[in-house]
Amino acid sequence: MLQLGLAMVTPILIYFWLNRLVFNNSVVLHSSIIYLIGFEALLAIIIFLVMGIVAQQLRNIKILFVSLAYASIGAMLLCHGFSPMLGTGDSAQHFIFAQLALLLSSFWLWLSSLSADHRLVRWLGKHRKALMPVWCVLLVLIGLLILLVADDSFKQFLYSRNGARLTTFFILLFNTWTVYRHLITYMASRFSIQLAIVYGTGWMNTAQVILFTLAPEALNWWMFHGLLFLAMLVMMIVLVLEYRHTESLTASVKRLYRADPDRWIQTYMTPSVSELVKQTETKDAYTAGHNYRVTVYALKLGEEMGLSSTQLKSIALGGLVHDVGKLYIPDYVLNKPDKLTQDERKLIERHPVDGYNLCKQVGFMVEELAIIRSHHEKWDGTGYPDRLEGEAIPLVARVTAVADVYDALTSSRSYRKAMTHEKAMSIIKEESGSHFDPRCVEAWVRIVEEEKEFFEQMLSSHKNMRSIIS
Ligand SMILES: [Fe+2]
Repeated sequence: MLQLGLAMVTPILIYFWLNRLVFNNSVVLHSSIIYLIGFEALLAIIIFLVMGIVAQQLRNIKILFVSLAYASIGAMLLCHGFSPMLGTGDSAQHFIFAQLALLLSSFWLWLSSLSADHRLVRWLGKHRKALMPVWCVLLVLIGLLILLVADDSFKQFLYSRNGARLTTFFILLFNTWTVYRHLITYMASRFSIQLAIVYGTGWMNTAQVILFTLAPEALNWWMFHGLLFLAMLVMMIVLVLEYRHTESLTASVKRLYRADPDRWIQTYMTPSVSELVKQTETKDAYTAGHNYRVTVYALKLGEEMGLSSTQLKSIALGGLVHDVGKLYIPDYVLNKPDKLTQDERKLIERHPVDGYNLCKQVGFMVEELAIIRSHHEKWDGTGYPDRLEGEAIPLVARVTAVADVYDALTSSRSYRKAMTHEKAMSIIKEESGSHFDPRCVEAWVRIVEEEKEFFEQMLSSHKNMRSIIS
C-alpha cells in the first residue's frame, strides 16, 4: 500500500520540484519526444495483441477489456504523436488525442474491474468475439474524424478549460475505481497482472493530473509521456514473466480441441488457476488432488452427456477451483476429525458463495462461476447455498456434483476412511432423484461400466494423494 502510494505521488512531487527549478519555459519541447511517443504506442499495441490472444484462449472477458484499453491507448497515441507530421496537427488536436488515449482506456479498465455477473459485462460477454474487431474499427473512425474534421465546436469544447475539467473528472473517477477494485482482488489472489493494472492505472491518473496543471508545456508533456511509458512497461514486464512461466501460450490452444481430460486441464492450468488450486490444497491436506480428479470425472461425465465444448471448457476451469472458497474456512473447522457443530457447519457451507465472490472478481465466466456456487445444490432443492431445485441448478453444476461426491466418497477424509468404488456407486444410485439429477446418474453408471480401466487407474493413483501441483 505504502509503496503504491509512493509510486503514484512521487512523480507529482518531482514534477512540482522541476517546475520550480526550471522556472518558466526553459525546457524546450524537443522533437525527440516523438520517439518516446512512438515507443509507448508500440508497447501498447504489443500488449493489446498479446492480451487479446490470451483473452480469446482463456475465454476471459476481463483480460479482453484490458486488451481493448491498450488498443485505445496505442491508437490514440499514434494519432497524438504523428498528426503534426501529417500536416494536420494543431494544438487542439494534439491535446484531444492525449485525452482520448486516457479517457477511452480508463473506460475499458473500469469495465475490467466490474464483476463478471454485472449486467453490462454479461451483455458484452455475449458479443465477446465481435468486441475486438468492432472496437478497432471505431478507433480508426474516431481518429479519422478528429484528424479530418478540423474545426468544430465539439473539438473546441474538449480543448477548453471546462472540457479538460470534465475529461479529467471522468478519467480520475474511472481509474480510481479500477485501482481500488483490482487492488482488493490482488490482495486475495496475488495475480501479478492485477498488480500491473493497479500500477499502470495509477500512473495514468498521475499523468492526467500533471497534464491538467497546464504549467510549462514542454515539461508536462515529458512527464505525461514518461508516466504513460512506465504504465506500458510494467504491464509488458508482467506479460513477459507470465509467458516465461507458462512457456507457450499457443501450444495450449492446440490442446483445447482434444477430448483428453488431462490435456483440457493442463490447458486451463494457467499460473493464476494453479495458484488458486495450490492455496486450497495447502490449506486442506485431505483434499490434495481432489480438484484435479473432480475435474477429470466431471469432464468425462459431461462428454458422455453430450455437453458443448463451451460447457466442457467451463467444467475444466470451474472444476479446478470449485472449492476455492474453502480458503476462508478456519483450519480447525476444515480439518476437524469429530462431528461439526451447527455453527461450524454454517462456516463450511459458506464456501460456495465465498469462492464465487472471489472468482467473479478475477474474471471467470458465468458458467464457471455457476459450478463454484452451485456444486452443493441438490436436485430436490435441499442443498445450499441457494436451495435451487431440479433444472434451476445449472447443468454444469449438476454434472460436477456427481463427480465431487464420487471422489469425496472414494477418498480418505479427516473424519473417515475411503469407501470402495462399489459402496460409493450404490450411494450415488440411491441418491438419484434426491441429491442428483437422474440423467447425470444414468450417464455416470454408463461410463463406470464402459471404462473400468480408467476408474481403476484413477482410484489407485489417488492412494498416493497425488496433487496436480506437486
Ligand atoms: Fe465444495
